[in-house]
Amino acid sequence: MWLPVLLGALLWAVLWWLRDRQCLPASDAFVFITGCDSGFGRLLALRLDQKGFRVLASCLTPSGAEDLQQVASSRLHTTLMDVTDPQSIQQAGKWVETHVGEAGLFGLVNNAGVAGIIGPTPWLTQDDFLRVLNVNTLGPIGVTLTLLPLLQQARGRVVNITSVLGRLAANGGGYCVSKFGLEAFSDSLRRDMAPFGVQVSIVEPGFFQTPVTNLETLEDALQTRWARLPPATRACYGEAFLTTYLKVQARIMNLICDPDLTKVSRCLEHALTARHPRTRYSPGWDAKVLWLPASYLPASLVDAVLAWVLPKPAQAVS
Ligand SMILES: NC(=O)c1ccc[n+]([C@@H]2O[C@H](COP(=O)([O-])OP(=O)(O)OC[C@H]3O[C@@H](n4cnc5c(N)ncnc54)[C@H](OP(=O)(O)O)[C@@H]3O)[C@@H](O)[C@H]2O)c1
Repeated sequence: MWLPVLLGALLWAVLWWLRDRQCLPASDAFVFITGCDSGFGRLLALRLDQKGFRVLASCLTPSGAEDLQQVASSRLHTTLMDVTDPQSIQQAGKWVETHVGEAGLFGLVNNAGVAGIIGPTPWLTQDDFLRVLNVNTLGPIGVTLTLLPLLQQARGRVVNITSVLGRLAANGGGYCVSKFGLEAFSDSLRRDMAPFGVQVSIVEPGFFQTPVTNLETLEDALQTRWARLPPATRACYGEAFLTTYLKVQARIMNLICDPDLTKVSRCLEHALTARHPRTRYSPGWDAKVLWLPASYLPASLVDAVLAWVLPKPAQAVS
């Protein structure tokens, strides 16, 4: 009874693996990447450049662009783009169009992102959410809609970087909301563009050591917010809350943040170079063994674990 099932599963796994390994022929196609100043975007730009792709890298700052240009080949071109500014997106779109010409755009990687303030929801304002949503969700939507005609022309690919926090909202703040939103946009985009030969992949990394997960920056943001909270809110949480919250956050980040960014860039490269790109990639051990399995557990169980790990407000009702 069990033997045919096991053999069937084994055969399916081998066939899946063989299909997954098939690559497109080496290519000098155009790929546009957002947020190439640092982290995954910068690494991917350099790796695709080495592979012979014609990389069009957008950076937020002139220094980021200059720095990248200095270490890349002359095939790689940089431009400045702020994904929260529609005019900046339109200008970058025209720049891409000039570069790609009749060939169209083969790849778009929506990578730019920010963490914003991560902390208890009652400490936050609507503006905190807006700032993060503008970069992480509305930015990629604006960039994608602008470049879709060029992607359609090349029967290209869109790769959106979300996060495991777009599958499980483990903390308060705009970050999880923004990544859940980008997941939803990517799912509908994939279905709507399939008839036109445009493929859409989602890369959901676990935690990696980049500026987005920089502990000092995250701590500074939360400490500044604490200092500005109304006295009643501070009394509700108690002075010890912030210290314990930051300690727990630091302990978790130090434990799970992976320094090997190539785990993410390899997934991004697969999404652009494989004959059959996957719908979802989950780079990082924490994504595979912790966050994604937890996202399928009953909410009550996840809530109980998080409540046990995080500190309690001084005036919490029992
Ligand atoms: N690191 C992780 O653990 C992790 C996990 C899951 C998902 N992610 C996602 O991966 C993506 C890349 O992040 P990363 O970890 O590589 O961190 P990163 O090095 O900070 O990369 C983010 C990039 O986006 C740029 N950026 C910020 N605001 C922008 C704007 N308004 N317009 C255009 N570009 C902007 C940043 O420019 P500046 O450097 O000039 O600020 C930076 O180059 C993000 O979407 C992030 O949410 C990261």
